[in-house]
Amino acid sequence: MTTTGIEIPFVHQLIGGVWGPADSGEWAEVENPGRREVIARVPASGASDVDRAVTAAKQAFPAWRVRPARERGALLIKLGDKIAEHQEELARIIASETGNALRTQARGEAASAVDIFRYYGQVASEQKGETLPLGDGLLSYTVREPLGVVGGIVPWNAPVQLSALKIAMSLSMGNTLVLKAAELAPLGVLRLAQWAAEILPDGVLNVISGAGSVAGARIASHPDIAKLTFTGSTGVGRSILAAAADRIVPVTLELGGKSPVIVFPDSDDDATVDGVITGMRFTRQGQSCTAGSRLYLHEDIFDSFLEKLTSKLAQLKIGDPLDEDSDIGAIVSQTQYDKICGYIQSGLDKGGKLITGGVQRPVDQDGYYVAPTVISGVGADWEITREEVFGPVLVVIPWRDEDEVVEAANDSAYGLAGYVWSKNIDQALRTANKLQVGWIQINRGGGQIPGMAYGGIKQSGLGREYSVDGALESFTQHKSFTIAYQG
Ligand code: NAI
Ligand code: MG
Repeated sequence: MTTTGIEIPFVHQLIGGVWGPADSGEWAEVENPGRREVIARVPASGASDVDRAVTAAKQAFPAWRVRPARERGALLIKLGDKIAEHQEELARIIASETGNALRTQARGEAASAVDIFRYYGQVASEQKGETLPLGDGLLSYTVREPLGVVGGIVPWNAPVQLSALKIAMSLSMGNTLVLKAAELAPLGVLRLAQWAAEILPDGVLNVISGAGSVAGARIASHPDIAKLTFTGSTGVGRSILAAAADRIVPVTLELGGKSPVIVFPDSDDDATVDGVITGMRFTRQGQSCTAGSRLYLHEDIFDSFLEKLTSKLAQLKIGDPLDEDSDIGAIVSQTQYDKICGYIQSGLDKGGKLITGGVQRPVDQDGYYVAPTVISGVGADWEITREEVFGPVLVVIPWRDEDEVVEAANDSAYGLAGYVWSKNIDQALRTANKLQVGWIQINRGGGQIPGMAYGGIKQSGLGREYSVDGALESFTQHKSFTIAYQG
């Protein structure tokens, strides 16, 4: 990592309405992976910082939980409006720290944060209960109560969008939150917290930075945290679930994926190629849990589709995330870069055929750049076919029989997303119905939309987020009242 010579800011964290450093006084550097420059320092928080944040969230909870839901919602809408005023600034922060290209990704992420706050702000008053028709003399009803202090942990790949989601779901339902940003991308989340702090009562939202193994682990095991919501790798998700088991607290997990994309012979066209590129999240360097990273092409169109795909990928410009011309930015860190190159190399060493891309640097720039990479001739049991690469690496597999391709698509430990491309709606729905995943897209490769119930099955996660019902199920609990009266 190099430094630019300009002064590197020290960015504080938010605990109980107060901005400050970590108790230890230690700092962690944040790097722009497109330039390999240190751009800021954030508190390297430890267990005592988490403990202070939980205390603040606990103190704020009684007043927040009794605020009318519509009032809580109105504050979230106000926060969405506030972010909207600063959307470009936020997008530039996201691009700088994640390496995601400003034009194709970071602006969209900032906009999605606005959208999420407005959505949950509007539906907050749907926190309704039920009544039981027991006749005269007995009244039985439920209310949806908040859980208390939520502990949220987010990754670096869409840090602001995922933080917006966890904040909006927790707070709209009357919980307070301790949120830990990812080591690699805490700046957008901390900036968002500054706007939130101008609007929300102290302690309702606390945002800290710090290492996963220290601050994250303390959140997972803190006795006063009533619910955990985590997005990240399946390995860490498993440890969060284990920590929650000790205290019997509910957990929402959004974990990894290796999502199948099935293309039927009637879809050998440009629109499908564009959709496959979008679904693979090539313009986010493939660093997405929903990346459609296993492409099953019908053998009749295998060569012609691949030809169109490679020529479209060649048109995408790789370069500095902050450059307006860049379609594709940089991989988030040296570690992730090495990991991705390792997967590509292992696929090629085993005899995979490189269609395009590879490990050689695609641009003459001092960042972690990897070209969109497509590999065919892969075995079903190879790591590159089975594991989440979390990089711009697509494996392509030919198929002939509909049942066999469905079986291959389902032969995965993951079950997050799936994509089916066909003009024949019978064929498309028949196939989609058989895929064991949480989210199917037919003839679409885009991202999540607020209102949809989003989440994985198998080792891709537990619970649903993004929708009002997801927030109700995962961020509230029913309390039943049974009242006898003289009827
Ligand atoms: P990670 O799962 O280690 O990090 C995600 C978050 O969890 C970060 O905030 C981190 O500080 C925190 N964390 C890490 N260890 C923890 C622990 N023991 N207790 C509590 N919190 C902890 O993911 P990482 O290392 O950034 O990426 C590694 C791989 O994980 C990627 O290559 C990719 O395969 C996968 N991943 C998947 C994501 C998804 O959205 N499905 C997002 C990020 C990573
Ligand atoms: Mg970074």
